[in-house]
Amino acid sequence: MDGLTLKKLLRKADENGYAVPSFNYSDIWDFKAIVQAAEEEEAPVMIASNPLVVGELGAKFCAGFANAAMDQAEVPLIHHLDHSFTVEMCRDCIDSGYPSVMIDASKHDLETNIQMVRQVMDYARPKHVHVEGEIGKIKGKGIEGDFKGGDFLAEVEDAAALVKATQVDSLAVGIGSAHGFYKGKPELNFKRLAEINKAVDTPLVLHGGTGIPQEDIQRAIKEGINKVNVGTIIHCTYMNNLREELNRAGDNPYTLDVMKAVYPKVKEVVKRWIRVCMANGKA
Ligand code: 13P
Repeated sequence: MDGLTLKKLLRKADENGYAVPSFNYSDIWDFKAIVQAAEEEEAPVMIASNPLVVGELGAKFCAGFANAAMDQAEVPLIHHLDHSFTVEMCRDCIDSGYPSVMIDASKHDLETNIQMVRQVMDYARPKHVHVEGEIGKIKGKGIEGDFKGGDFLAEVEDAAALVKATQVDSLAVGIGSAHGFYKGKPELNFKRLAEINKAVDTPLVLHGGTGIPQEDIQRAIKEGINKVNVGTIIHCTYMNNLREELNRAGDNPYTLDVMKAVYPKVKEVVKRWIRVCMANGKA
């Protein structure tokens, strides 16, 4: 799988009214859960490592098992670098064999954002690697971003300018979604989403999937979202079930016994999200 395949997958999703879900993994067990869920739901999916995971495990190591998984999977599976804040990490992941990377320069001014996306595009394009940029800001706190406050909304002109200047392959848009669990009901700005979708012919990405109600995800897809990112619910399901299984196992837990009980729980969550994105049966 390369970035050109992803481009086709996102176009197909756009034409057929669903989104390609992108799930964040932390290690091989939640990775396995995501791949199995995709196969059982016959869905195209993206599987993403954030910079903390890449930093700890290494880009080559992540790309090694992900490339094997992409080769073996019975469905389209695209490995992705999520929310890199540096051009260097994008280059490192591209060199290691990632077919898709995100450069998140949204905390900088528009000019710098454009410059950084351009640098990654220049490096990625000859290698057919897909590049996602970001305009506006995703709220919340964590590795993926730490923006708080009211000035998050993506401007239509900025989105159009960034796409025109960079020809970026896909674009994450700040429309009110947040990383992590929401305190109240998420308030997505569907009007702004529709305006951006009209202004640019680039697949649009919704971050902060965890906690957004199904009807809002599906409305966002209708208004132009082609990829939906889901992270927090994956690692929380993983870790909470791990704690339970370890408690059950007592003083002499064997890794495989524990993990074989835990990862199917993660798989169920992933399958539910594939259906929320209406990507089931679309492989
Ligand atoms: P959540 O952790 O809120 O699901 O968001 C994930 C995400 O957007 C990763 O980029």
